[in-house]
Amino acid sequence: MARERSELILADLIATRAERKPDFPVLTFECAGREDEVRTFAELNEHANRLAAGLIARGLERLWLVGLATDFCVAYSAIDARREGFEVTVVEDACQAHLGEWRGRTLGTLGATGCFSFQASKNLNSGEGGAILTSDDALAERLKDIPIDVLLNNAAILGEPNDQNLGSFDYELFGRVIDVNVIGTTKMAEAFLPHVEKSDMKKIVAITSTQGSIASVRSGSIAFYNTSKAALNMIMRSNSRALKNKGVTVALISPGQVDTDMMNLALDRAGVSFELLTPQQSAEAVINVIDQYGLELSGRFVAHTGTEIPW
Ligand SMILES: NC(=O)c1ccc[n+]([C@@H]2O[C@H](COP(=O)([O-])OP(=O)(O)OC[C@H]3O[C@@H](n4cnc5c(N)ncnc54)[C@H](OP(=O)(O)O)[C@@H]3O)[C@@H](O)[C@H]2O)c1
Repeated sequence: MARERSELILADLIATRAERKPDFPVLTFECAGREDEVRTFAELNEHANRLAAGLIARGLERLWLVGLATDFCVAYSAIDARREGFEVTVVEDACQAHLGEWRGRTLGTLGATGCFSFQASKNLNSGEGGAILTSDDALAERLKDIPIDVLLNNAAILGEPNDQNLGSFDYELFGRVIDVNVIGTTKMAEAFLPHVEKSDMKKIVAITSTQGSIASVRSGSIAFYNTSKAALNMIMRSNSRALKNKGVTVALISPGQVDTDMMNLALDRAGVSFELLTPQQSAEAVINVIDQYGLELSGRFVAHTGTEIPW
């Protein structure tokens, strides 16, 4: 049967399980198959009319359908449910389908809302996090109010150390390191500030580095990276002053020397090695510092141990 493209709504059919959660009952269906053997709301259940009648008998008029983008079988189920007279809202899970397309439309833009995950195991990640897209102005207005207790900006690049030596500076790389480590982190803080302000904790954390300590510079190596972290310290210190009377804490925390790709690249190029913290040890220590880091400390530059680092 031909389907109107505008009708295509992606979903896993989640309807009703009144006995489990009467205020928001959920009933899950699993379906599988190829697009040419699509199973629909009707085909999923030989007695579709009875299913629809059962849902209506429970007083349900509105179905929320949640599922993977391009899960066509349930897409058609959503369409059928609408034909059965239900009000249908679809939440499209495009968790790691960034910029993917289906039938000429970008994933995440097909349903009432599209959701992306930036959790650590996803192909585009921020450690933890996510995004919701919607074309529904009322929903967008509600989402604007989601509070963020701790906004943690961790992302950074080191850049090739061999291109950061005086005499052979790579200025294109210099720009990139500043762009990611300073401007990117600052934009994140500014963009999400309204959400942080709405939370109880109100903390913005910039993961910086002891390499950004001007007082501690002992060699000319990784000069771009060091400069970027010193600049990050300055802009976040400035932000801490701008935000203090709003009750927002800005924390500058160095995670210690950690066994990560970045650190291993730096050690490899320097031809040295020493014992490193595991990422878990570092993360636990940083979380502990964040917990202790109150407004009275805002703008201070501290290590994962909580000790203050000289500027
Ligand atoms: N490791 C250490 O000993 C150490 C010491 C002091 C400070 N730090 C700081 O700790 C933080 C984490 O570093 P790490 O050691 O875990 O480094 P890493 O292993 O290189 O990881 C850096 C992370 O940042 C992400 N990232 C880089 N550029 C990005 C961008 N433009 N947009 C979004 N994400 C981006 C990377 O994502 P992709 O993998 O997808 O590129 C990666 O997940 C950094 O701020 C670093 O400066 C680390």
